[in-house]
Amino acid sequence: MKLLLRDVVKRYGGLHALDGLTLEIEDTNCLALIGPSGGGKSTTLRLVSGLEAPTSGCLLVDGEEIGNDFERRRQFRKQVGIVFQAYNLFPHMTALANVALPLEKVHGYPKADAIQKARSLFERFQLEDHMLKKPAELSGGQNQRVAIARAMAPDPDIIFLDEPTSALDPEMTVEVLDAIYSLIETDKRIVIATHQMGFAQRAADTVALIAEGKLVEAGSSNQVIENPQTIRGQKFLAACLDR
Ligand SMILES: Nc1ncnc2c1ncn2[C@@H]1O[C@H](COP(=O)(O)OP(=O)(O)OP(=O)(O)O)[C@@H](O)[C@H]1O
Ligand SMILES: [Mg+2]
Repeated sequence: MKLLLRDVVKRYGGLHALDGLTLEIEDTNCLALIGPSGGGKSTTLRLVSGLEAPTSGCLLVDGEEIGNDFERRRQFRKQVGIVFQAYNLFPHMTALANVALPLEKVHGYPKADAIQKARSLFERFQLEDHMLKKPAELSGGQNQRVAIARAMAPDPDIIFLDEPTSALDPEMTVEVLDAIYSLIETDKRIVIATHQMGFAQRAADTVALIAEGKLVEAGSSNQVIENPQTIRGQKFLAACLDR
């Protein structure tokens, strides 16, 4: 996938969540967004996934402008998968219905096909035993895997994930990371915000470090994480290793 963000500003009231972010990624299968808390990773994900419009600047995904036109963003959102915390499962529906219903209602699958497709994803993510439970009856890691299954069910072009393992214990984190590795193996294209540098380095081919609403640096994951070129990048990564 190709990504181009030019001079992107996102303001919430007086606060500049993104303050002239420019990022050009020529060709990546898995891009990780890293950087300090409050730096602008989630905001960047909301813009590149078409959930929100930038205040100014332009955003192109695979050469197509997706930032400013409401209808274009709506179309784009239908082609992508989104796993964000504020984008939760429906609490009153079973896990299976959470995955099958959007296939039917949003993507026009016949009901039986939607259920079949959802079932096959539950098998793939080892969730067969939990299909008929509601989100409140599942663990955090199970819910996250259901959310990933839901995002990938309609075979989206790109999946956007915002810290899918935050708030999980180490074992559940491994479960969810394994699910994400399996997405990468099936050649799904992914943009993921993460605080886990080890995961970013292994899973992503490209890393963009964002801080204070701007791009600090971008490049191959090994390069940015092992050998950052900017003082800001060096400071951030040194702090990660200290932990
Ligand atoms: N809806 C909003 N309304 C007001 N301010 C917001 C909103 N969303 C984000 N911000 C602010 O924009 C800045 C960037 O936030 P963002 O959530 O993008 O950071 P982040 O890099 O994802 O941080 P974290 O690692 O903690 O998730 C922060 O100062 C945040 O408080
Ligand atoms: Mg965030």
